[in-house]
Amino acid sequence: MQKHQHEVIVVGAGGAGLTAALYASQHVSTAVISKLYPTRSHTGTAQGGIGAALGNTEEDHPEWHAYDTVKGSDYLGDQTAIEFMAQEAVQAVYELEHMGLPFSRNPDGTIAQRPFGGHTNNETGKPVRRACYAADRTGHMILQTLYQQSIKNKVNFFDEFHVVDLLVEDGKAAGVVAIELETGEFHIFHAKAVIFATGGHGRVWEITSNAYAYTGDGVAITLRRGIPAEDMEFFQFHPTGIYKMGILITEGVRGEGGVLINDKGERFMEEYAPTVKDLASRDVVSRAMYLEMKAGRGIGGKRFLNLDVTPEVVNKYAAEDGRTNPDGSPYRMTGEDIFAKLPDIIDFCETYIGVNPVTQPMPVQPTAHYAMGGIPTNMYGEVVIDKENTVMPGLYAAGEVACVSAHGANRLGTNALLDLVVFGKYSGLKAAEYSQGSSFIPLPANAADFAQEQFAQLHREDGTESVTDIANEMKEVMFDHVGVFRVEEGMQEAVDKIRALKERFQHISIDDHGKKFNTDVLNAWEVSNLLDLAEVTAVSALERKESRGAHSRDDYTERDDENWLKHTLAWLDKDGVRLEYKPVDITKYKPKARSY
Ligand code: FUM
Repeated sequence: MQKHQHEVIVVGAGGAGLTAALYASQHVSTAVISKLYPTRSHTGTAQGGIGAALGNTEEDHPEWHAYDTVKGSDYLGDQTAIEFMAQEAVQAVYELEHMGLPFSRNPDGTIAQRPFGGHTNNETGKPVRRACYAADRTGHMILQTLYQQSIKNKVNFFDEFHVVDLLVEDGKAAGVVAIELETGEFHIFHAKAVIFATGGHGRVWEITSNAYAYTGDGVAITLRRGIPAEDMEFFQFHPTGIYKMGILITEGVRGEGGVLINDKGERFMEEYAPTVKDLASRDVVSRAMYLEMKAGRGIGGKRFLNLDVTPEVVNKYAAEDGRTNPDGSPYRMTGEDIFAKLPDIIDFCETYIGVNPVTQPMPVQPTAHYAMGGIPTNMYGEVVIDKENTVMPGLYAAGEVACVSAHGANRLGTNALLDLVVFGKYSGLKAAEYSQGSSFIPLPANAADFAQEQFAQLHREDGTESVTDIANEMKEVMFDHVGVFRVEEGMQEAVDKIRALKERFQHISIDDHGKKFNTDVLNAWEVSNLLDLAEVTAVSALERKESRGAHSRDDYTERDDENWLKHTLAWLDKDGVRLEYKPVDITKYKPKARSY
């Protein structure tokens, strides 16, 4: 078996992984292991912007950004981490600019900013332009920029290596085991520090904006090593995915003046969020859309609504709202403006559904988008493994796989890209610092056994169950019962179903028993990860008897701070999911009712 040694190993090559690697590699030998070629990472699909209170065209402050984030999180976010993220945001964006990221620009040359859901002027409550963007390709530009910088910084890359286990010795992280896609061989990567940056797990749900690769590998691997997952019941549904496909239509569309319209031609968000309307936080907008559809006001009675960014509609509602440009002139959009600001959206809609958004509305429905929960960490990316926040030496996590928790029960748009670069940076720096003060822990000869046993099981030749059928049934039950709205019976049905599917998974049949490029067996392993995460999510959701942020129950409709202002910690033991709770870090923002 091939063995490799680097002081810091980063698993995942999206925005968080590359930022971590960039900063770690300034101090110690660093390698990135990625199951994809790095520039195919899911960060590349992020569209509308990265949040930072630059105040380039109107008054804004990191304190406002922090407060909006706390409010958006429905007060479940940890406030020290949120204040840190909002303060660091400004420098983080300028660092990206200095690395060469081609942001869109204002006429005066400063970075252009657009409004996004939940970002407000804290004095007026009106939307504020805080999202720094590169047209609707912000994530793509961040990913390319970070990759170029990582190459320049001589980060070692192991592309198309699939990490399948974390090595733990004496309670400390000591490396990972990976399978090389090309050869099917197992490799051991010995490290002083390991950073998980493997992204989210939106593939648990039927309709999702997430890439095929978003299968929750990091959380599943750490759960199997006895590390809990935090706040898994909070999974964000982005309001605007293409109907039936889930492909993301950026919130930047609404930032540029697009509006959601129901079958009666009404701009229904006026009723649900009278101040910010279509720019309320995502949990609020997704719920409003469901309620409209439930009331029979989906377009043609179907389960979608229209998102309209045609110039006539944008200009009509901008005039009604009294929206102005930064210079105070009335806000108006032409077809050319829309094309310049949203080129990819136009391209996606024309390609996938034959709709031209400059002249036609887009059919949209809420789509599973972002995991607020994940591997518990502090704000330096150090993984914490219990309700006392005990740090596990040598193990770090950053980006969507981690739960800092800077997003609490609901993330604001643009704070994901921000999270990647802020917490990616500090996890990289912390991991490097830890490595410099520690030695490699010797690994036992059988270090790869646990991983090899898992794959030996998957390769058994006597199975009959189809992996695809199991995955589809999981996605369906999770979308129906652990989605935007939840009730006891539905969630219990989901828990029972997932457990039955896990039992069936013991008897799967795969077609390819070879070694080279065996995506069949790797896909089966990914489905096993999704099943574990689905179970933890459904059980955590079932137990939380309140409505908060993205966790909205028809049987417990109110937020219950007295009993539920706490984070869930879930362990996956042999007998199933075990839950404990830990307090939320509240500094100056005392919980109060939310309104938009
Ligand atoms: O709507 C969007 O462009 C998505 C951004 C985000 O999830 O932050």
